[in-house]
Amino acid sequence: MGIVFNSTTKTITLHTKNTSYQMKIGNLDYLLHLYYGPSISDADMSYQIMQYDRGFSGNPYESRNARTFSLDAQPQEFSTQQQGDFRTTSIEVVNSDGSYSFHGKVTGHQITDGKYRLDTLPATFQTEKDTASTLEVTLLDAVSNVEVALLYSVFEEADIITRAVRVKNLGSEAIHLKKIMSLCLDFLNGADMDLVSLPGRYGQERQVERQHMTHHIHTIGSVRGSSSHQQNPFLILCGRDATEDYGRCYGFSLMYSGNFLAEAELDQYDQLRLVMGINPKQFVYELKPQEVFEGPEVVMAFTEHGFTGLSHLYHDFYRTNLCASKFVTEVQRPVLINSWEAAFMDFDDVKLVNIAKAAKNMGVDLLVMDDGWFGKRDDDNSGLGDWYVNEDKIKCGLHRLVEQINELDMKFGIWFEPEMVSEDSNLYRTHPEWVMQIPGRHAVRSRNQLALDMSRRDVQDYLIESINSILDDADIYYVKWDINRSLADIWSNELPGERQGEVYHRYILGLYRVMDKIIKTHPDILFEGCSGGGGRYDPGMLHYYPQYWVSDNNNPIDRLKLHYGTSFVYPTCTMGAHISDSGKFIPLETKAVVAMCGTFGYELDATHLNKKQQKICRKQSNLFRKYYHIIFKGDYYRLTNPFEPGNMTAWQHVTKNKKESLISVVVTNLTCNGPQEYIRAKGLLPNALYRVNGTEEVHSGAALMNAGLPIPREVPEYTSFQFHLTKTRE
Ligand code: DGJ
Repeated sequence: MGIVFNSTTKTITLHTKNTSYQMKIGNLDYLLHLYYGPSISDADMSYQIMQYDRGFSGNPYESRNARTFSLDAQPQEFSTQQQGDFRTTSIEVVNSDGSYSFHGKVTGHQITDGKYRLDTLPATFQTEKDTASTLEVTLLDAVSNVEVALLYSVFEEADIITRAVRVKNLGSEAIHLKKIMSLCLDFLNGADMDLVSLPGRYGQERQVERQHMTHHIHTIGSVRGSSSHQQNPFLILCGRDATEDYGRCYGFSLMYSGNFLAEAELDQYDQLRLVMGINPKQFVYELKPQEVFEGPEVVMAFTEHGFTGLSHLYHDFYRTNLCASKFVTEVQRPVLINSWEAAFMDFDDVKLVNIAKAAKNMGVDLLVMDDGWFGKRDDDNSGLGDWYVNEDKIKCGLHRLVEQINELDMKFGIWFEPEMVSEDSNLYRTHPEWVMQIPGRHAVRSRNQLALDMSRRDVQDYLIESINSILDDADIYYVKWDINRSLADIWSNELPGERQGEVYHRYILGLYRVMDKIIKTHPDILFEGCSGGGGRYDPGMLHYYPQYWVSDNNNPIDRLKLHYGTSFVYPTCTMGAHISDSGKFIPLETKAVVAMCGTFGYELDATHLNKKQQKICRKQSNLFRKYYHIIFKGDYYRLTNPFEPGNMTAWQHVTKNKKESLISVVVTNLTCNGPQEYIRAKGLLPNALYRVNGTEEVHSGAALMNAGLPIPREVPEYTSFQFHLTKTRE
């Protein structure tokens, strides 16, 4: 069993294959956090907590004679409110009497088999290979009757622990939640730790930043209504000495697609507290008696093997325990071509069929009709919300268009932006009240579009019905689900003024409900998420959709950084990556090598390619298929850091049995008469011999990992190399 309660020490220890996590029902029934790190068996780790009289750190009433007991200096599993702990809190609740206080004491705990379920939010799940066990600890504030249940599931094989929180109002009057964090993790000393996060912007998502912990609160979050381009709901706390291959790393990945917040506070005594959950900004949630509020799941991992070790834990877990789509495990993803950069909104059925015909020669399996096929949509000022075919453009009708693509032995995909509406649309004219707009004010426009109030049932049902009816009308194999603005003017016409603080979160709950209904009605469709590129690339979305568009920036050199940053937590098989016209002087082969660090496809007008270019593309599409099992199922290694000065960027995939590997290298910088450079492989069997690209060249794993492969330097700019290694014998 992965969870052990020791009734003598009152410790509860969560065990994965290589890690332990310990808490204790401590002094006065406070729930203390004792340990997270390499396995420690069931040792009682409470000896670490030293008791001092800390000036200006108050003592709870019951301990008034023991001045050494202060919550300000105790590591906790869920930090209290107004009980003498001046660090950041897990909860801020306004009780029915108007007081701001939560004083949670343990009232019970339960250990069960299986993974906990969340009723309103997406969560990871157990599989046959990796079953989970669950701990639920309840804390009660005996005065306000607010109960908090802390949920933990342990995936032993995967080395993963997940956490979530539930708040229940057991009182007789309404309370208001102003902050509720899903995770609180206290380190007794965190002064030697760094924080790594993935900030970015439109076109440059998930760049990597590392900072030392200093004595203030480091916050990462989004208030854009989505997890956003600007930040990602993922962070690493690591030792100062941690590197790609070495060192202690803790990962925290929040399964939520809306406003989120992570606060890492290094306090006056070098204690480090991390909290993570829904962003409290403009968040006030009313809980009537007996009502329950669920906070989203945090997926935690720990390794001593640096960033690579941590990424591998997330990649493996997210490849198997996050999304139930058949495209995750059973069905190979198609090579697709998307119409956006080929035609933008200027297309008709004939043009699409011609693109498909040309793409057929490039080894493409699927044509995606992007934005512009519906309502009145010749530019981005109109049409959103009218999810019916524009027959001026698709003159033969959707059904016949899909038939024509199918006759080429290709599949068909379609684009939607369901959460948005244009003012110039029939939907807006019929239902202006469905839009988020604060009464008496003009709503902020962004791409000249407005956001639908996804918290409303009628809006959700309209979207479910109208999208399902398009998907039922023709043989649709793929859907791209886009959102192209940040939210503002948060307001729902269905809620009274005093409950508008619930709208940000209710929007996300509504979105999850719509996606869930649609994927369950159409389990055979491959869905790809998108938000003006990778603006909502998070585990919440990846629970529903197995892949996500990394960025609108298709420049292969920029993509090296985009893929590098994204790979810290998300596996290659989730990364939407295409070859486009962007990067005029970059060879097609190099664009393909970069797009093979993802789902691989095209984003260009295939009719503009000559026969020779089409042939190159066909070869690359076939290579992607050949290497699919390595790229999608293997272990991924970052061999260089594109954010550091260097002449090459390289990465590697290795099959789990280490019999095959693919090393990809892009030369990003040429120097005249430069030194010979070598790329050192990772993850191979040292004693095995590997054949390089099916030639007579054979090297041992040890040679490839310690000395490396020489990379030719006298080559044209932006040349790329792929080294396919196959194991010959031990
Ligand atoms: C933003 C996406 O990232 C693009 O790929 C494209 O689908 C456009 N939206 C369409 O409006």
